[in-house]
Amino acid sequence: APVAGDVLVLFGISGDLAHKKILPALYRLTERGELTVPVVGVALTDWDTDALRAHAADAVREVIDDVDDAVLQRFQDLLTLVAGDYADAGTFSRLADEVRSRAEADDPFVVHYLAVPPSLFGTVADALASVGLHERARLVVEKPFGHDLASARALNAGLAKNYTEDQVFRVDHYLGKESVEDLLVLRFANTMLEPLWSRTWVERIEITMAESFDVADRGSFYDAVGTVRDVLQNHLLQVLAYLTMEAPLSDAADDQRDAKHALLASVRAIDPAETVRGQYTGYLDVHGVKPGSTTETFVSVVLHIDDWRWTGVPVHIRAGKALPETVLDIELVLQAPPRPLFMGADAGPPPANRIRIRLQPDSGLTFFLLAKQPGKGDVAVEVPVAVDLRQVLGLAHEPYERIFGDALVGDPAHFARFDTLEEAWRIVAPILDATTTPQPYAPGTWGPGSVTGGTTASSG
Ligand code: BG6
Repeated sequence: APVAGDVLVLFGISGDLAHKKILPALYRLTERGELTVPVVGVALTDWDTDALRAHAADAVREVIDDVDDAVLQRFQDLLTLVAGDYADAGTFSRLADEVRSRAEADDPFVVHYLAVPPSLFGTVADALASVGLHERARLVVEKPFGHDLASARALNAGLAKNYTEDQVFRVDHYLGKESVEDLLVLRFANTMLEPLWSRTWVERIEITMAESFDVADRGSFYDAVGTVRDVLQNHLLQVLAYLTMEAPLSDAADDQRDAKHALLASVRAIDPAETVRGQYTGYLDVHGVKPGSTTETFVSVVLHIDDWRWTGVPVHIRAGKALPETVLDIELVLQAPPRPLFMGADAGPPPANRIRIRLQPDSGLTFFLLAKQPGKGDVAVEVPVAVDLRQVLGLAHEPYERIFGDALVGDPAHFARFDTLEEAWRIVAPILDATTTPQPYAPGTWGPGSVTGGTTASSG
């Protein structure tokens, strides 16, 4: 049975991710009574514990409107800081003292969360082992896990020296999104949908992850990464897996991860000839971007799933920054009926049925059905039948609330298992580090267009 953490250690507590996402999420967990254990922050900073508590209060108030002062106080009281360099052994001996003095248990189980650059994962993991903070512990690491298949394997082997696979939780915050997990509920709780979910009825699938904002102040991070590594290898392949995998044997974490692994293992490596890379004009002027950089800020690819259910159904995925809107949509375009009995509004054949699942910013479902146009006997026009799930069911929890909640209790279901990450790196390998110049596109447009044969639907 999973062991619950007695102490949470947060590396990188002074950083941007902690500021924007983690500290507000920890406040929410405190409010719900899911965070009651001490939180020891570690960072290279000149703050002390008081400064950290003040910073945490600011971070919470920036994101959350209805802050309860008593809850905030309780959350602040959980926080203390160990300031120091991760390369310095002294930092870790002070951390060990702090953990042992603050934990209530004699032999505390420690959850270490590494919100630090990936180049430091190994250093921190080893240093924890050298002070004995690795055996009764979980190690939670942020993305990106590696830079390609070989570096991911090297990183994993490094962690495996001191930690078992069960102890390592790899974050992909899309796995913490309720709308992403809802794909499984929609598919496998609805007899009305699942029979449609195969090559028999689906002609093609389109996934669009558009962001209207640009790279902003993340130039040096983004330039070394690009869209494929930033969102396709991780977030979008996880979405694809939930959308297309077989039903898991049970809802146990490893049954779900087995089903995801089987799906990704049947996805062909991407063909560069079916890939379009784009870069928005103005990107080269962003601070931190290398002169003449060929890093993509937009990509469109076609995936082929060589399994029994999906063979022959292309999956068009596009993602990019500086696009017209911020949205994550999935569209299933269904096969035409066997014979056209009716005409479309423009006298051609009527459009195919489509099912749109919106995962962000709101979450919902739209069935584009056809109905008779009043006054015309044989004209079928498209009518959207839509539900806004957020309106009907209420607001979902933020992904980092679930990630920290699960990391604390030791539920691995919403973390990436290494074998699925290996498959994801294999799938994107042929299009990593392309040295060809990406096609330019103007900010605020839908990118340089899709590949031949792929009619990507507009999300507008
Ligand atoms: C992050 C990427 O992992 O995911 C960002 O580094 C991207 O570039 C972000 O914007 C998208 O996450 P969300 O939750 O805002 O859709």
